[in-house]
Amino acid sequence: MGSKVEMNSEINLKGRSLLTLHDVTDEEFLRLVDLSDRLKQKKKSGVRGDLLVGKHIAIILEKMSTRTRCAVAVAMADEGGMAQVLSSGEIHLGKKESVADTARVLGRMFDGILYRGYQQKTVELLAQYSGVPVWNGLTDEAHPTQALADLMTVREFFGDLHGRKLVFVGDGRNNVATSLMLACAKTGMHFVDCTPEALKPSETTVGVCRKIAEGNGGSVSVVSNPSVAVKGANVIYTDVWISMGEESMFAERLALLRPYQVNMDMMRKTGNLDSEEVIFLHCLPALHDYKTELTLETGALEVTDDVFEASFSRVFDQAENRVHTTKAIFVSSLCN
Ligand code: CP
Ligand code: NVA
Repeated sequence: MGSKVEMNSEINLKGRSLLTLHDVTDEEFLRLVDLSDRLKQKKKSGVRGDLLVGKHIAIILEKMSTRTRCAVAVAMADEGGMAQVLSSGEIHLGKKESVADTARVLGRMFDGILYRGYQQKTVELLAQYSGVPVWNGLTDEAHPTQALADLMTVREFFGDLHGRKLVFVGDGRNNVATSLMLACAKTGMHFVDCTPEALKPSETTVGVCRKIAEGNGGSVSVVSNPSVAVKGANVIYTDVWISMGEESMFAERLALLRPYQVNMDMMRKTGNLDSEEVIFLHCLPALHDYKTELTLETGALEVTDDVFEASFSRVFDQAENRVHTTKAIFVSSLCN
């Protein structure tokens, strides 16, 4: 078990970048979930991997990260490869050196680059100039690697994706929400973006995703009323109300999003709690009553402690799955 041929038999993304989920077909997205499952099983059975021996990945970090960077490091090490973190304060990128020049240098040294930062344009330039696969590990616009782990987690619990209803509750136009919308569309799920008017995703984003969803037997809708939106949900998903880079909007967002807090009352309104047909997901980090600097005066923000700690909360499976899905992306784009 675990040779390159066996592992990659159904998915080959050799040399390709993942800047948004539009970079993979619907079929490829599902095959990545399959490969993630196989790699997880391989790791759990104690098989030592060698699929990425001799491969080197650069991780560029303009924003903070716990899960994404650790998932990359562990995924590479599990299969014999190496990852190197390059934090923005430590490299010349954006100061003495252009993105294009940094990309060309890193492309001569590394087999792939994962970028976490602000502008989508930066990750696009890295892909354009480096000559190696570039993966978006979160920009202001998208978080595609997260959405892959999210749907892996949903499928692990329910055994399927098609026809399941996922409701994203919160800042409906952020990177996590819009990547999830596209991921659900690709797999024929019913995606509901539950968000106030002021935080609605663009009509273009919704239109594109809706077309894909409908082609796969799913749907995309945007609903402002949480009680209406969550009815029949199989997955309630939320994310922070203030994304990295938006810290100055704290008070404004709290005022807008208070009615969108995921709490037990909202979970009960799904109607699926007693039958155990609903789970809670969050990409993390989560402000759930944990006494951080940010929540000392406010208490829980996007999710309450009882929901976060409940048996139907699958947030740590989801975090772990970042390793398996990240590994699947690397194996499929660096091997074959
Ligand atoms: N979910 C996620 O991307 O976590 P980090 O910000 O810790 O990488
Ligand atoms: N929307 C959040 C996701 C963090 C993983 C942010 O961009 O900060």
